[in-house]
Amino acid sequence: MTKVVFMISNSFSRLTAFLKEQNLVLVQKIAKGWSSEIFLVQRGKKKLVAKVEKEKSPRINMVEKEAANLKTANSIGIGPKLICFDCEKRIVLMEFIQGISFSKWLFSSPEKTQLEKCINALLEQAKKLDEIGLSHGQLAGKGANILVQKNCLPVIIDFEKASQNRKSKNFNQLQAFLFKNPESAIAKKIKEILE
Ligand SMILES: Nc1ncnc2c1ncn2[C@@H]1O[C@H](COP(=O)(O)OP(=O)(O)O)[C@@H](O)[C@H]1O
Ligand SMILES: [Mg+2]
Repeated sequence: MTKVVFMISNSFSRLTAFLKEQNLVLVQKIAKGWSSEIFLVQRGKKKLVAKVEKEKSPRINMVEKEAANLKTANSIGIGPKLICFDCEKRIVLMEFIQGISFSKWLFSSPEKTQLEKCINALLEQAKKLDEIGLSHGQLAGKGANILVQKNCLPVIIDFEKASQNRKSKNFNQLQAFLFKNPESAIAKKIKEILE
């Protein structure tokens, strides 16, 4: 019990120190993942996201990897913009994307033209990432690493497991995920809307 309290206060104290240093105000926690917690923060009126690595994170160099990969993705206009990162406090600060996960958006039944716009943009981004050899690695699955904005345009997030060292197959993986898996509720729903 004492250990748990210590762990919570430790990652919270890293965040508190970071916020103070960066002139940021904490708004709320948005999500809690396996290795990190995501906080909505604000600098003046600007909304940003602080991804804070947990005390007991199983990842190695998560912050360094996420920041480097995000910077590479940003160089071709992909992903939330990286603002800064702190290796000591293990925090990545990035642009806040106002949007909902691809699967949630899909099951809110967008119109055919909206879905086409989103999917075309998504496949285009995947192709661009392949061209520069940045393999995201987690584009398929539940579609949780794709946020869809009000204008139906997608933003790919979560680059902590991305890599430039393995063959980049984002386009093929995404295509399989969207269209080819007959068991997948996502592929079924897409087919239904596009038909
Ligand atoms: N830049 C961002 N803007 C808005 N929401 C974000 C952003 N980054 C992360 N999130 C939210 O936090 C969740 C977890 O973030 P993610 O980077 O995928 O971490 P994890 O490695 O835990 O999956 C996302 O599914 C999304 O809802
Ligand atoms: Mg994720």
